[in-house]
Amino acid sequence: MEKKAKLIIGEDTYEFPIIEGSEGEKAIDFRKLRQATSHISFDPGFGNTGSCTSAITFINGEKGILRYRGIAIEELAEKATFVETAYLAIYGRLPLKQELADFSLNFTKHSMIHEDMKNLFKGYPAAAHPMGTLSAMVCALSSYYPELLKPEPTPEEIDTIAIELISKVRTLSAFSYKKSIGEPFVYPLHGLRYVANFLHMMFASPNSNYKIDEDIVKALETLLILHVDHEQNCSTSSVRLVGSSQANLFASASAGICALWGPLHGGANQKVIEMLQMIIDDGGNLDKYVAKAKDKESGFRLMGFGHRVYKNFDPRARIIKAKADIILNKLGIHDPLLDIAIKLEKVALSDDYFVERKLYPNVDFYSGIIYRAIGIPSKMFPVMFSIGRMPGWIAQWKEMIESKELKIGRPRQIYTGDNLREYVPIDKRK
Ligand code: SDX
Repeated sequence: MEKKAKLIIGEDTYEFPIIEGSEGEKAIDFRKLRQATSHISFDPGFGNTGSCTSAITFINGEKGILRYRGIAIEELAEKATFVETAYLAIYGRLPLKQELADFSLNFTKHSMIHEDMKNLFKGYPAAAHPMGTLSAMVCALSSYYPELLKPEPTPEEIDTIAIELISKVRTLSAFSYKKSIGEPFVYPLHGLRYVANFLHMMFASPNSNYKIDEDIVKALETLLILHVDHEQNCSTSSVRLVGSSQANLFASASAGICALWGPLHGGANQKVIEMLQMIIDDGGNLDKYVAKAKDKESGFRLMGFGHRVYKNFDPRARIIKAKADIILNKLGIHDPLLDIAIKLEKVALSDDYFVERKLYPNVDFYSGIIYRAIGIPSKMFPVMFSIGRMPGWIAQWKEMIESKELKIGRPRQIYTGDNLREYVPIDKRK
């Protein structure tokens, strides 16, 4: 028997279907709300609004649960590779051995960008933020694949774009970094796996090789896996909204990078490190900064804390915090920022303001500690987030394009401006 919700407006009662997901999440289906009641729902920030059904990622924010296609993030972080997890997110199941080998080989084959793209980098100042460069370059990729820009690409064409984007996002990211430090681009090498090839492009140079450290590869692999997808977050919703107009996947992914750049979203990992450094430079007075974060007038927030969905520890933060300890010990690095981060977490989580608002460390709080240990500068942290999230954006875009219910995204509004008034000729205006 279909469950229904009753809505009473004045003398009238309306009924709307209730839909339930495979994990028991419930929603009131308001698709006919305006037509039936001449009212719209009002939910700025969409905190109470579902934009779609999706089978890719499940989050239980109260319990701190995150699963990709039903598999717990803790298992994937421990046992899977990033390429394997990308396949899982996009195709809905773990790949068979040959499928994984073919998928991985494709990333090797498609890791080079068109030589002409190097000219695009030439126009950027060294000080350009790599997220600005990356978003432009990802959109520019569309110029080199005119045959892949159809409004309704075939499944094979979507597979091809996925390979191009997941493989080349590494190369474009590494080239953005090399541009920012004035070093020549280092080309990808056949024979190196996904993460190792990225590290090679980032840290090798014409006069010195980069020795691949398997511990560093594993740490980066884990970080990329943890960032693959996170249901309908700001950047993924941007990818879906742009794609809903039948814009191509290159343009949609570029929109995702732009949304992710914001300090409230993927840009937070860079802001966390800058905040921790500021606290150390200011004598390490944690109480002062916790008090500032509680003072609404200050405009200061504890970056890396809080989450729209998690009202418990972000499971990714737990994994990253544990990994940070391990990788720093293995590399023999003592990072004072990790010490201050652990102390800040303790002070904040013993303060009612944070406990009452369920503000826990999120994915961005500790990730920068590992990126720093690897030698990646903080401006590149949101770029690392983009590399990790690329398969998730592709999976979500593909799921939307293949859905029978695809409609262009177009929210309504409540108008609060002037009522009808006349045009006043310029010589009569006061
Ligand atoms: C990511 O959505 C996703 O899934 C994102 C992500 C992903 O994988 O895609 O998980 C990645 O973006 C993680 C979040 C990274 N951002 C930050 O760390 C920036 C700092 N965090 C906040 O700005 C904030 O917590 C958000 C943006 C993450 C969530 O914002 P919400 O859900 O809109 O919450 P809110 O701003 O309405 O805050 C609720 C209350 C407010 O206080 P009151 O008005 O109730 O008194 O909590 C306070 C806020 O002032 N608050 C904070 C705080 N975060 C929220 N106070 C101090 N420091 C903070 N960090």
